[in-house]
Amino acid sequence: MPQGLQLFPQQASTIAKHVDWLYFFLIAVTIFFATLVCVLVTFFMIRYRRGAKVDRSNPVNHSTTLELLWTGIPLVLAMVIFAWGAVLFYAIQTPGQGAMEIYVVGKQWMWKLQHPAGKKEINELHVPLGKRVRLTMTSEDVIHSFYVPAFRIKKDVLPGRYTTLWFEATKLGTFHLFCAEYCGLGHSRMIGRVVVMTPGDYEKWLSGGGNEEPLEVSGERLFQRLACATCHREDSKGRGPSLAGVFGTSVRLKSGASVVADESYIRESILEPQAKLTAGFDPVMPTFTGQLGEEGIIQLIAYIKSLARKPDSSAPPTPPTSH
Ligand code: CUA
Repeated sequence: MPQGLQLFPQQASTIAKHVDWLYFFLIAVTIFFATLVCVLVTFFMIRYRRGAKVDRSNPVNHSTTLELLWTGIPLVLAMVIFAWGAVLFYAIQTPGQGAMEIYVVGKQWMWKLQHPAGKKEINELHVPLGKRVRLTMTSEDVIHSFYVPAFRIKKDVLPGRYTTLWFEATKLGTFHLFCAEYCGLGHSRMIGRVVVMTPGDYEKWLSGGGNEEPLEVSGERLFQRLACATCHREDSKGRGPSLAGVFGTSVRLKSGASVVADESYIRESILEPQAKLTAGFDPVMPTFTGQLGEEGIIQLIAYIKSLARKPDSSAPPTPPTSH
């Protein structure tokens, strides 16, 4: 896109041009048919105006060819748009492996962002160029929406659950971050920026200024302080299931169903322990609703994730099953 003419934001992520191609296709189809209809209406209006000397006998009442055409062409077009959109939607929904994780907490009226190494930001997100970034997002109050036009990504940020987004920046620079869901008086001021840096600069930025501790370290401290470890013992002899190696695996529930232990499941188990009980355990865990903010929950999740990564965990992780 030319810089001077800002009809469209810059294309600054890997998916931006794909989104634009679909968008331009929709515009082209719309313009083509709108023009066609206007031209035909004008043509017939003039040709069959009152007093014009034209043949008005034998008006066409039925034409199978015409009916097939005006059913067939829209069908093909709609299917092309559906398939194209579905492929793109799937690509936008699936971050793939090895993405860098960043947590986003929206609140009236600011964005709080947290890097895995512990660095926190408000209304600013620094990311490296050419690396996949996965955002896990939640809200402390009302619905917000995380929107970076230059990346062509937008998703609602909801209280009480996680939504995710991913992107891979392809351009250095600073890009707008907006809240795209009306969230109260300060909605229009709930803006920020995304700064894309070279990987080297990003590392430098990450290590500079302050001695933040990694999320999982804060999480481990919280885990001890809340005495989670008294029941969730690593040796699997506690009153609660051992959490070593549990993240990302399939958990069998008391109800007979199974569930993949992802961020949302762990979050729910902390706040509503009885909702999805692990098979073989009693409903003895108290709820931690009201005792933990969103940031505390994120720290605990980071800690439990880090347990999954430890190679010496007693139980070998089982791959998640699809169901
Ligand atoms: Cu937050 Cu609008």
